[in-house]
Amino acid sequence: MSDFSRLSEQLELRTAELRMCEGRFRNIIFRSADGILLVSREGMILFVNPAAERIFGRSADELEGKPFGFSLSRERTEISISGAGDETLTMEMRLVETEWEGEKVYLATLRDITGRLRMEERLRKKKERLEELNRTLEEKIRDEVAKNREKDHLLILQSRQAAMGEMIAGIAHQWRQPLTSISLLIQDLGETYVFGGFDKEYLDDTISKTLNIIQHMSRTIDDFSGFFKRDKEKKAFNLRHNVDRAVSFVETGLRYNNVAVEVDIDDDLTVVGYPNEFSQALLNIIGNARDIFRERLTENPVIRIEGYRKKKRTVITVTDNGGGISREIIHRIFEPYFTTRAVENGTGLGLSMSKTIIEKHMDGKLTACNVEGGAQFRIEI
Ligand SMILES: Nc1ncnc2c1ncn2[C@@H]1O[C@H](COP(=O)(O)OP(=O)(O)OP(=O)(O)O)[C@@H](O)[C@H]1O
Ligand SMILES: [Mg+2]
Repeated sequence: MSDFSRLSEQLELRTAELRMCEGRFRNIIFRSADGILLVSREGMILFVNPAAERIFGRSADELEGKPFGFSLSRERTEISISGAGDETLTMEMRLVETEWEGEKVYLATLRDITGRLRMEERLRKKKERLEELNRTLEEKIRDEVAKNREKDHLLILQSRQAAMGEMIAGIAHQWRQPLTSISLLIQDLGETYVFGGFDKEYLDDTISKTLNIIQHMSRTIDDFSGFFKRDKEKKAFNLRHNVDRAVSFVETGLRYNNVAVEVDIDDDLTVVGYPNEFSQALLNIIGNARDIFRERLTENPVIRIEGYRKKKRTVITVTDNGGGISREIIHRIFEPYFTTRAVENGTGLGLSMSKTIIEKHMDGKLTACNVEGGAQFRIEI
């Protein structure tokens, strides 16, 4: 084979290789989903692939040789192109410098990121909506909790007012003795005037005694009417005063049933919370002991109320000698509507309400256990 024919054979081979190579590249460029353009340094379009034709909505013939119209100063930018209809497409444009037919040119690739941006926007809005929902959800929960608390307060107030009748009888009884004392003092006033000894000293003494009694009666009625008012807000109150006041409301009834009440509380103990609701919880517990004494005909019934400080908490225990709470029911006594009494005697709300007052409203703890001879209720605040 001559050198010439060998050379021409090689040439043919190379040409075929080159054609194949070009075919491959052409294939890549023509099938690419990204728009590919070659732009001269002067900004004229030299070449566009079909994807670029689609992006601009014009044919290669219409585009090639025309100005590109976008800045070629940055390697990577976002550009807006008006697509079919009113739609505006956002393209990410990347530029690299390259050579084409011996000239320095720009190779621009355009990638449609409209969908991605829209998706991001949708996600952002969704996230915002979720965040908003979260915020309002917290608010809604707070509102509901407040509403529930309000309902609890009202229920407790209603139940306190329902107990008024029984207590009024007690107060009326408490007034009987001072009223008798006042009428005796007045009778004595008349008799002393008639029978002699009516001087200034005697008059002052009688006036002062009468005023003292009236003051005491007035305090009783103030305490009583104060107890039926709604606690507006939490405040610090003296435990001893609170217990004494509560006991005074039911004292007559207890005495009538021969129930002794022993109170042993440090004078300076204060509790922060709702004083009337606290008294009410205490009265529920005292009332239960009285009911048990009656039911079981307890001999020498005693209710002992103790109060002391334990570390940073205040502990109040109410202990009776009524035989205790039976084992089968002790885990249920704080449930609403749980009662062992005949239907007409008990609603079964007393202890559950007391628990709400102590635990939900005053952040304390109310528990019950049996001790020697009886039950013990323990409030820790
Ligand atoms: N000191 C106590 N000793 C023994 N059992 C008690 C004592 N206190 C409460 N109990 C039991 O717990 C139950 C529930 O008490 P709770 O005060 O909640 O309701 P109740 O007294 O039955 O009805 P009410 O709503 O009228 O108070 C009582 O029925 C009783 O069986
Ligand atoms: Mg009760």
